[in-house]
Amino acid sequence: LDSPADPFAVARTAAADIARLTGVSSHDIAVTLGSGWGKSADLIGETVAEIDATDVTGFSKPAVAGHGGTLRSVRTPDGKNVLVIAARTHYYEGHGVRRVVHSVRTAAATGAKTMVLTNGAGGIKDAWAPGQPVLISDHINLTADSPLEGATFIDVTDLYSSRLRDIARQVDASLDEGVYCQFRGPQYETPAEVRMASAIGGHIVGMSTALEAIAAREAGMEVLGFSLITNLAAGISPTPLSHAEVIEAGQAAEGRISQLLADVIGRI
Ligand code: 6GU
Repeated sequence: LDSPADPFAVARTAAADIARLTGVSSHDIAVTLGSGWGKSADLIGETVAEIDATDVTGFSKPAVAGHGGTLRSVRTPDGKNVLVIAARTHYYEGHGVRRVVHSVRTAAATGAKTMVLTNGAGGIKDAWAPGQPVLISDHINLTADSPLEGATFIDVTDLYSSRLRDIARQVDASLDEGVYCQFRGPQYETPAEVRMASAIGGHIVGMSTALEAIAAREAGMEVLGFSLITNLAAGISPTPLSHAEVIEAGQAAEGRISQLLADVIGRI
């Protein structure tokens, strides 16, 4: 993926690796598990196979504690094949946007028509509390980068599918939604950056998802996004932010949000 090679060809090779290693020739839905969402794989259905992401073409080693490095093929009770991706490459790792979106392009190459993106993120809305899941209604990409190469002018209206958000609210009518701002990271935002995010219409701050959502749309997938609010953003939170706090909030909310995610996937 560092060479001029076609990233879609690399994704097709990766999809063939997944088919061979899992014994599952195609998938219907893919879900990327962010901080706090890790338990849902078991609730979505029966695990048919779990493989190391590093055995799949183009996947790199996870850089951060709390982020696994596996791919699972899970079969839902109604017979859908779900590719569960617990192997995210973050933009802040500095290996380029092709590596960041490789899992999404691979998911599309396995046949997935729906991409569910989850993350742990900072909340800006006063009404939100740590441990609360929210729907992503739209995003602001503050990375100044794009996974699209060349003159790929795609429409990103309704990028976070209103149809899929409606399905999620059928599962939990109390789900709030907000606009996700992807910052490069890895440092958390300054209070001034959080005020900027709020002023330009953002409600959630994080370090993933937007670039992946763009790549998913380019690949023709319908996108659903969830953030777990692990903490309030800087200047809103009364305490300094720490990675330990983010992991802890994720663990505390894990059971509830994983059930939510599994229920939503069951209805797609
Ligand atoms: Cl406050 N900011 C960002 N960028 N990512 C986060 C976060 C905040 N909290 C959890 N992840």
